Amino acid sequence: MSTTYEIISKVIKERRSIFPASYIKKEIPVEVIDQILETANYAPTHKLTQPWRFTVIRKAGLAKLGEELGRLYKDLVPSHQFLQKKYDSFAEKTSQSDCIISINMAVSGKIPEWEELAAVSCAVQNMALTAESLNVGAYWSSPPLIESLSDFLGLKENEKCIGLFYMGYHNETPWAPNRTPMADKVRWIED
Ligand SMILES: Cc1cc2nc3c(=O)[nH]c(=O)nc-3n(C[C@H](O)[C@H](O)[C@H](O)COP(=O)(O)O)c2cc1C
Repeated sequence: MSTTYEIISKVIKERRSIFPASYIKKEIPVEVIDQILETANYAPTHKLTQPWRFTVIRKAGLAKLGEELGRLYKDLVPSHQFLQKKYDSFAEKTSQSDCIISINMAVSGKIPEWEELAAVSCAVQNMALTAESLNVGAYWSSPPLIESLSDFLGLKENEKCIGLFYMGYHNETPWAPNRTPMADKVRWIED
């Protein structure tokens, strides 16, 4: 029997960003998507602003998102910087995914904006850990184009898209994460 620490530590350490190229063609049931989303709601939040908002994109919505990202890329990137490979990657990645959840932040004005961003990030980590525990691969993508997705995502005036959470089942086995030692990142004050 594993202790709670052992279980949570395993999920935290084995969670990896799994990219669309590794996803297999297997539908993620709506119940599983709901389980993943539900855990976002338990993130900590200053003044209980609960700034996390999401738009779930599935089925035909995925191709629409791919087209929209391609259109924005074509419109916004100067022609001398345009790369056909990059343009094609949007449709490719969206078609490889089974579900994409846009990560949105509602700015309440009650607390500094960075605190809203921090709370949404905590919510996304809950989702990432839940996805890991359910064998769903996921990763947070943050292309600059997301700033122009508000209309597509149906966002309100005070909402901003801060990422796309790509999801899909996969057959990857856990690998060791690329991290420098924790001891290099901690200072202790004891006297
Ligand atoms: C806020 C945030 C934004 C990210 N944006 C991207 C991105 O645009 N493209 C990408 O390939 N990975 C992105 N990632 C995922 C990182 O590449 C990944 O977390 C990192 O390589 C460590 O790997 P791991 O998640 O498997 O531990 C993002 C992660 C976070 C937290």
